[in-house]
Amino acid sequence: MALSSSPLPSQKGVIITVPTLVLSLSAAAIFIFLLLSTLSTCSCPPSTAPASTGAAAVSRGGNYGEDRTERFSPTQDDIEWIRDQIRVNGIRMQPNVLRKGINPRTRAQQLQDLIQFKGISHYEEPESNDHTALPCPGELLVEEHHSNYGEPWAGGRDVFEFLAESSHLTPVSRVLEIGCGTLRVGVHFIRYLNLKHFHCLERDELSLMAAFRYELPSQGLLHKRPVIVKGEDMEFSKFGAGVVYDLIYASAVFLHMPDKLVWVGFERLANKLKPYEGRIFVSHNIKFCSRLGGDECTKRLTSLGLEYIGKHTHDSLLFNHYEIWFEFRQSKA
Ligand SMILES: C[S@@+](CC[C@H](N)C(=O)[O-])C[C@H]1O[C@@H](n2cnc3c(N)ncnc32)[C@H](O)[C@@H]1O
Repeated sequence: MALSSSPLPSQKGVIITVPTLVLSLSAAAIFIFLLLSTLSTCSCPPSTAPASTGAAAVSRGGNYGEDRTERFSPTQDDIEWIRDQIRVNGIRMQPNVLRKGINPRTRAQQLQDLIQFKGISHYEEPESNDHTALPCPGELLVEEHHSNYGEPWAGGRDVFEFLAESSHLTPVSRVLEIGCGTLRVGVHFIRYLNLKHFHCLERDELSLMAAFRYELPSQGLLHKRPVIVKGEDMEFSKFGAGVVYDLIYASAVFLHMPDKLVWVGFERLANKLKPYEGRIFVSHNIKFCSRLGGDECTKRLTSLGLEYIGKHTHDSLLFNHYEIWFEFRQSKA
């Protein structure tokens, strides 16, 4: 029929020959194909929007559906996987003795080596001392501060996982730790949270030195700019007047403080907690509360607009230990 080599009449009198039409259609088809394949392999810049809640925050594969918020502790699958890795590689715990390329030292011996032999320095005098941008004291380099708390340093991760899951943490959450010490727990929050979203009030100078001169640089976290303030009097004004926290916690701290000071903290922080959703978690015990006797603690909390929700325990992944946590929030009324 019309698809002959004869010219096709158009409404406005433009004449298109059949070969021209076929060529044009082919060119259009090729163009559309190329466009579609370009779009499907687009190397677009990553979104600058922060991952916050729900599917956007899910970074793990495995059992977590797109409608679930992020999970922080390992799954049973994760644990099976690591056990399997140890099994298939035939790995058993061995005595840590001298062997090829491995020369085990205690922290004290390592510190002595650092002092005596300048550690692993290859620089000779006279310019041997000025190659280091952030010189770190030897005691911190050998991680003496990892033995400060009477339990393995690794327990910091357990604390983080419990608190992150219990408070439904997202990168945009704002977190205050009272008494963050050497950042045993804090480094995990700092790594996960957005810039400047981790705040801490700590009184011990040596712990702060370990945090600033060893933990943050060695964990590659300087760029996260955590707001860490030296202080011991529950004075939070340096963190900003308008800041509202999703999570405030005290890990192994309130038991070392006078009850009166703990209550000063509660008074000053009650209205800095995100209404209803925000949480305060206190570890170990709440003797500052029970020591008031009767229902005095409940009354005092109510007067501050706070309520006690309950007690939780959380098992450690690596060692035979569990933490005890007490949870508070703003009361609804
Ligand atoms: C056992 S450590 C726990 C450190 C950290 N929270 C952790 O879990 O790894 C107790 C910390 O609370 C700090 N601390 C005690 N009283 C304090 C106060 N009034 N203000 C700020 N920090 C305090 C201590 O200096 C110490 O670093």
